Amino acid sequence: MEQFEAYLLAHLPVSHSPHPHYETSLRQMLIGGGKRFRPALLLDVVRAYNPLLLESAYSVALSIELLHTYSLIHDDLPAMDNADLRRGIETLHKTYDDMTAILAGDALNTYAFEVLSNAPLSATVVVKLIRELSHNGGLNGMVLGQAIDCHFENQRLELDQVKMLHIHKTGMLIAASLKMGAIIVGRDDIADALYDFGIDLGLLFQIQDDILDVTQDSVSAGKTTNNDEAKNSFVTLLGFEEAMREANTLGDKLLEQMESFDENLYRELSPTLTKYINRHKENK
Ligand code: IPE
Ligand code: IPE
Ligand code: MG
Ligand code: MG
Ligand code: MG
Repeated sequence: MEQFEAYLLAHLPVSHSPHPHYETSLRQMLIGGGKRFRPALLLDVVRAYNPLLLESAYSVALSIELLHTYSLIHDDLPAMDNADLRRGIETLHKTYDDMTAILAGDALNTYAFEVLSNAPLSATVVVKLIRELSHNGGLNGMVLGQAIDCHFENQRLELDQVKMLHIHKTGMLIAASLKMGAIIVGRDDIADALYDFGIDLGLLFQIQDDILDVTQDSVSAGKTTNNDEAKNSFVTLLGFEEAMREANTLGDKLLEQMESFDENLYRELSPTLTKYINRHKENK
């Protein structure tokens, strides 16, 4: 991932203007923080099937990270989760103001598609990738999940509804990362299976995030924690022990499904997957 990190730093948004902090506000949430989980998944799939396309895939991985970063900036706003810390630094609306954070999010969201449209891949592949990122990150994907998450604060949802919410706000972008990797290497035949696997992986990732909200302090998480009391999180809904059990069950299912991956995919994806599938077991 070091090469991807270097690529990201070389392709930070640029804007020369008389504005004293517009460009800084666009860059600071991208620099030096974030697990880069979604780019890692995409690049693992590309490395499994066609390592020669890795260079070309960096811009696609960057586009996902840009869209994800925008979603975090907006997620932290006072009108949403009202959080002060993100990726180890003060949130943009704390450092500057809400207006700056809203506009930085808007700019990163659209810049994601600018970067993606310029990816050095065939026009047919680029259009498919744009379709996936916009569908999964947009109105019936991540944004819908965020709308449900925020609308139903202090209102209890059923377990199935919370799963639906988690799948939308987090699962779909993670699933798209795997699927977009398959599209880049021309393996559309496995794209849907990878997507389905990614939905479960993304659901697990959000259940773990709900667990970490109560087990990690803000400094180790690098973001505001203990912030989900009013939310339909897995922990508020099921309690800590049951949320841990759900995560373990889903993790075991994913590890079992991984066994059916072909040799190349297993080799490239398993380091990333095993690291994340077990992450709720740390900091208990
Ligand atoms: C946080 O995502 C928001 C969720 C969807 C759970 P990450 O945990 O991937 O955050 P970064 O990218 O590492 O900061
Ligand atoms: C946010 O979920 C998911 C996004 C789409 C950004 P959370 O609100 O639980 O994410 P954190 O805990 O603030 O990172
Ligand atoms: Mg949120
Ligand atoms: Mg949040
Ligand atoms: Mg959270």
